[in-house]
Amino acid sequence: MMNAQSPVIRRYGMAAVQEAAGVIRAGGIVAVPTETVYGLAADARDSAAVARIYAAKGRPSFNPLIVHVLDLAAAARIAVLDADAHALAARFWPGPLTLVLPVRAGAGIASLVTAGLETIAIRVPAHRAMRALLAESAAPLAAPSANASNGISPTRAGHVAASLGARVPLILDDGATAAGVESTIVAGRTILRPGPVTAEMLRDVLPVAAGGTAHVSAPGQLPTHYAPRKPLRLEAVAREAGEWLIGFGTVEGDDTLSATGDLDEAAARLFDALHRADASAGARIAVAPVPEAGVGVAINDRLRRAAHR
Ligand code: TXA
Ligand code: MG
Repeated sequence: MMNAQSPVIRRYGMAAVQEAAGVIRAGGIVAVPTETVYGLAADARDSAAVARIYAAKGRPSFNPLIVHVLDLAAAARIAVLDADAHALAARFWPGPLTLVLPVRAGAGIASLVTAGLETIAIRVPAHRAMRALLAESAAPLAAPSANASNGISPTRAGHVAASLGARVPLILDDGATAAGVESTIVAGRTILRPGPVTAEMLRDVLPVAAGGTAHVSAPGQLPTHYAPRKPLRLEAVAREAGEWLIGFGTVEGDDTLSATGDLDEAAARLFDALHRADASAGARIAVAPVPEAGVGVAINDRLRRAAHR
């Protein structure tokens, strides 16, 4: 629905990237896809611009943001990477892995980005739109997920528009995101947030500690994160009265995360399915069991948060 309250949505391309970079350079905010979810980006060196992210999301300012850069060299100008960090970066960047590292003194990052911490969350994204915006704006970009605080993360431009409306002036639209859940966050050898880079994949490189929700300690990991508006029931094998059932594998529903039981497909479809369930005629949402393996760990983490109220 287009009206005065709608943001401008531009299809990915050179003209759109240049327009978005112009907004960034002018101290504004832009929604841009990454391989995980759409982010709400601003120049991480510009505290007024970063404040606009917090204002648009309605986010508590103690919650620090992830900084996105083009490559390892740019990351190393902002943060201090030890041997472990170098090993992880070499294997998983560009890609959906965020490293929490000591911030370099004099790196020029606005203190609002780190919320006053001495560490910074940083990643090198793989998505062509985010990479083009990083290159064209020549700025490190702070970007949380482009949804109102505590809402469901956006995997499509339409989700961003529905959640933030005119609070985001411009959305760079490059279709649905591929990974579907937010990046894996690692601090030292501990997984703070499970994501598309799974524990198994990390352990190929380093003996990281098993993640899981019990030990999640990222400041933004509030239990109510990712909440849909409706109550949500987990591990559902059949629909109860009034429910919209999101199936998986052999559990058929009104919708499915993956009819073939493919976890990567399920991750990519998860937030879209929750958005659809919220907009459906069902008064409540139910979700079929998802195996706690691979990226299923991240899916179940997000589902438990969505169910918490
Ligand atoms: O895939 C993603 O990571 C997406 C895309 C846009 O890159 N971004 C994202 O950002 O999910 P956000 O702001 O929704 O989540 C960032 C998480 C929060 O839980 C925050 O508390 C945590 O990272 N975080 C940021 N800086 C941190 C730090 N220095 N130490 C520990 N956790 C930190
Ligand atoms: Mg978020």
